[in-house]
Formats: sequence, structure tokens, C-alpha cells
Amino acid sequence: MKGGSRLLWFLFSLCCYCVIINNNGVEGSHKIHHEYQCVPDTKVRQVHRTGYHFQPPRNWINDPNGPMYYNGIYHLFYQYNPKGAVWGNIVWAHSVSRNLIDWEALEPAIYPSKPFDINGCWSGSATILPGNKPAILYTGIDTQQRQVQNIAFPANLSDPYLRKWVKPDSNPLVVPDVGINASTFRDPTTAWQVNGHWRMLVGARKKHRGIVYLYRSRDFMTWIKAKHPLHSAQNTGMWECPDFFPVSLYSERGLDTSVTGKNVRHVLKVSLDRTRYEYYTIGRYYPEIDRYIPGNTSADGWSGLRYDYGNFYASKTFFDAEKKRRILWGWANESDTADNDTAKGWAGIQTIPRTLWLDKGKKQLLQWPIEELNTLRGQKIQVRNQELKIGEHVEITGITAAQADVEVTFSLPSLDKAEEFDPSWVNAQDLCGMKGSTVQGGVGPFGLLTLASEHLEEYTPVFFRIFKAKGKHVVLMCSDAKSSSLRTELYKPSFAGFVDVDLKDGMLSLRSLIDHSVVESFGAGGKTCITSRVYPTLAVSKKAHLYAFNNGTEAVTIKKLNAWTMHRPQMN
Ligand code: FRU
Repeated sequence: MKGGSRLLWFLFSLCCYCVIINNNGVEGSHKIHHEYQCVPDTKVRQVHRTGYHFQPPRNWINDPNGPMYYNGIYHLFYQYNPKGAVWGNIVWAHSVSRNLIDWEALEPAIYPSKPFDINGCWSGSATILPGNKPAILYTGIDTQQRQVQNIAFPANLSDPYLRKWVKPDSNPLVVPDVGINASTFRDPTTAWQVNGHWRMLVGARKKHRGIVYLYRSRDFMTWIKAKHPLHSAQNTGMWECPDFFPVSLYSERGLDTSVTGKNVRHVLKVSLDRTRYEYYTIGRYYPEIDRYIPGNTSADGWSGLRYDYGNFYASKTFFDAEKKRRILWGWANESDTADNDTAKGWAGIQTIPRTLWLDKGKKQLLQWPIEELNTLRGQKIQVRNQELKIGEHVEITGITAAQADVEVTFSLPSLDKAEEFDPSWVNAQDLCGMKGSTVQGGVGPFGLLTLASEHLEEYTPVFFRIFKAKGKHVVLMCSDAKSSSLRTELYKPSFAGFVDVDLKDGMLSLRSLIDHSVVESFGAGGKTCITSRVYPTLAVSKKAHLYAFNNGTEAVTIKKLNAWTMHRPQMN
């Protein structure tokens, strides 16, 4: 080898070595910043920390894990780095609550300690077994860097907080067999029962195909892989954090995970490692033959329906037996750089828990912040029947705009002047990026300017734009981070989704939960949801403003707006 090529070869080998060392040779989807994984305690910067969203006092968090309701207490576990503000050293942190609003942090519940999880305790789910005994299934990274599925039980059921968890020596319960790639095999679901036998899913991929493998068990300890995966889809890549659960056809009430029957449909949600967003299908589950067939009203692939068209990943639901509802938790990562995350000493929040149920049209789910959130509402202001003229923005004063809950219903003029919809606009995010909140439309863009500075140097608009298509209207909802901050190095996507809503009554509603560095929005009663993470430099705390705006050629009216300053709950 010549000197030059030897040097190149050396550099190449060094690179490979670094990749292997830095992520333990394990294929995981998180960016690895070895230099930041263990840093001495920095002072936590407060400016963009949230007031009422779930977060620990410091350091990195990702996926919500094993949410459950047990004997009067809600438990939330989550992926956590106890040593730094980037991904690494992952344990299951543990918090408990009586109302899903005030949280108390406990010691980590599950952490690497045995050959079957010594290199990591990754995501998983809780199942309440007969006799009211909780169990957690989770992915361990074993001594050979394989992803294996393990179980843990509470050490002491009479401790109301279930602080200590034990891992039986019979772990791992499931190892990747010959046909399975040991580095893409993780995140077991909550299990469900069919005729007294258990089922659970594990996310995986084979080449480019996303897969959920199905396992069966009589006793919850011995698991056998079914001949057919429950489902798979081409060209979707690794399916992380699958979730599979029933929804009622005729009621907003949630169902326990084992419920089947003719009044039920099933939802399969997967998190796409490749694109870093999730999609779900609604379909039928045939328990006798263990088949899931998605309905044909939405795409079964990356262009399918999403819980949230913004920064929302690795989500998981659980059945709340107390209030008979299904609740969704999702992780909203930072849009900041790893350098900045480390400097500020924290990264990641969980979104506000949402109740979720099947829409009357049966083609999509609806989501709404849990009712308990209303207990944090403080100072209130209202606006009624205020017209928003062309090009106008009106300040909504009297609340703390950096930490607020805003509910608004707009009444629309005639839709005759709506812009023509070009059928080639299939991607909502591209369309929002192109048109933004300032390009004048017909009906819209109109909505809210959240986390805005006084002179609009910074603002995060959450808004609608209505188009005219053949025989119908197309409603676009955007949460656009493009102008959210004067800082240039941030990720500032123009998140957007279409809203499948009937505009016959001429009304369109929006709710935004604004919390310093997050804006979580619900369009048309929870049909389309978008979460943005933003980092204003001027529009911070008392200097943040809230406006309603209209940049269409048609006036729209704020029929009704209620907004509240949100109190801070006890947060870990
Ligand atoms: C999703 C994920 C999971 C994995 C965990 C590791 O964000 O990559 O697939 O179990 O995070 O922290």
C-alpha cells in the first residue's frame, strides 16, 4: 500500500472503530455523541424549560415506557441518561402521580445489572396480569450486543409506588432466532389475552421491510414466535415502539388491551426509525387466526395517518381502568444542537397525555389533552365575535403568553374565494413550507402567532389555509417554526397536516398548549395535531406575546376565544 492510501485506510478503520465503540455496535436510532454522554453536572439553564410539560430536573430523556395505572397511582417510566443531556447510559427512570399532572420522581426502576441487559435497558411496556400483578416487558442489550426481550416484576406489591423491580434469572424470555437480525429487534408491546393465552409484539425490520413479530405464551414466561408476523410493510425500515390496541366503534371510552369483538376496531402504530415519525392504521384483528388487516381508508406506509405531524415520536398508549379511557404519551425531542443541549443541561420532554378514541367517521382517531389539564388553568381572558380583517394581527392580552392554554373557534366567510388546490400538493409539510403564514391566500392563512416577540422578529404561527378542490375543500393546518427564533443553527421545520373536516357549519377550531419551548396544537377538535419545539431569544417568559392573525383576502371572525395562564404543577 502506498503512503497516501495507507493513511486513507487508517482513517477509514478509525472511523469504523469509532462508530462501533460509540454505539456499542448496536443499531439504535439515536445520534451518538460520545463526548457528551457522561459530563459533570452543569448548571441547568432555565430559560426554555417547560412549565407544565413532563420533564425531569436535568439530563436527556426519550421514549415514554410502560405507562400504567395501578391501585390509584399512575406510573410513567422513560428512557433516561442519568449522566448527560444526550442519548446514552440508558435506564428506566420512574415517576408517579395521582392525577397525571403532578409528578414525583423516584429512583430508576430498571437499569443495566445482568448479562441480559448489561449494555442497555431499552423501551418496553407494562401489562397488568390476572390477580392485579404488574409486569414489565423491555428490551435488554445483552453481553453479545443482541437485543433481547426481558421481564421485570415489582419487588413488593404492597409498596404503593412500586419502587423496586426485580428481573428473574429466567431472563431473557425472548432472543432473536436465526431469521431475526439481533440489532433490529426491540420494544415489546403491552400483552393481550386471547382465550386465556397471551400475545405480544416486538418491532423489527428485515432488509427494508418493517415488521412486528408476534409471540404467544400461556404463562407469560415462555414465549413462542408465531409462524406469521402480525403485520409488516415494505420500504418502511425499522419499526420501533409498536403499539396495538382496540378502540370502540360506538363510544369514546377506552378499552382494555385484551378486548375484541364486533364493536371494536384495532389500531397498529409504529415509529419509523428512518423518517423519525410515526404512522398508524385502523383495521380488524381476527384473534382466532391472529391476523390484523388494516382498513383501506388510509395508507399503510410512511404516508399514512399520524397522531401528530410535528415533533412527536416513540409514543405509547395505556388503558386507564379508573376513568375508562385510553391515554397516549409521546416524546418531543429538542430541535436544538447537541452542544446546546449539553450546555443547557437537559433535553427532551413528554407531550401532555392525550385521551384518544375513534372518530365518528371511523377513518381516523381523535385526540384531546386529558381533562385533568384544566385544573392548571389560572387567569382567564375571553374574546367574542371579533373580526380579523385582511392582513390584521390582534394581540390577545391579559395572560402569560409563554405558558398558556388557548382555545379558539373561527367562523369563516363564504369559501368561494378559497385558493385552488393543486392535486400535486400531496405533502402537507412541503405545502406549508412553500406558502407559510405570510403568503396571502383567499380564506387563510389565519390562526395564532404564539411565542411572538413584540415586533414580530420571532413568532411560531399555528394556522389554517383553506383550498378549493374538485367537489370539496382541503384544509391545511401548519405549525411553522421558520420564524420562531433569531438563532440560525436550529432545526426549524414547517410542520403541517391536512385536516379531514366538514366545513358545512363554517367553523374551525384550534387549541394550542404553549409552554416556553413547545407549542402543542389540536386542530378541529383533535383531528390533526402538531407539536413544535422552538427556542425564541426575544419572546421569552414575560416578553412573549400572543396574537390572532389573518393573512387571507377574506375576513374571518374569532367567534369565541378562551385563553388561560397555566399554573406550574409539581414536576419531579
Ligand atoms: C426509540 C428507541 C427505541 C429504543 C430506545 C432506546 O426512540 O430507539 O427503539 O428501544 O429508543 O433508547
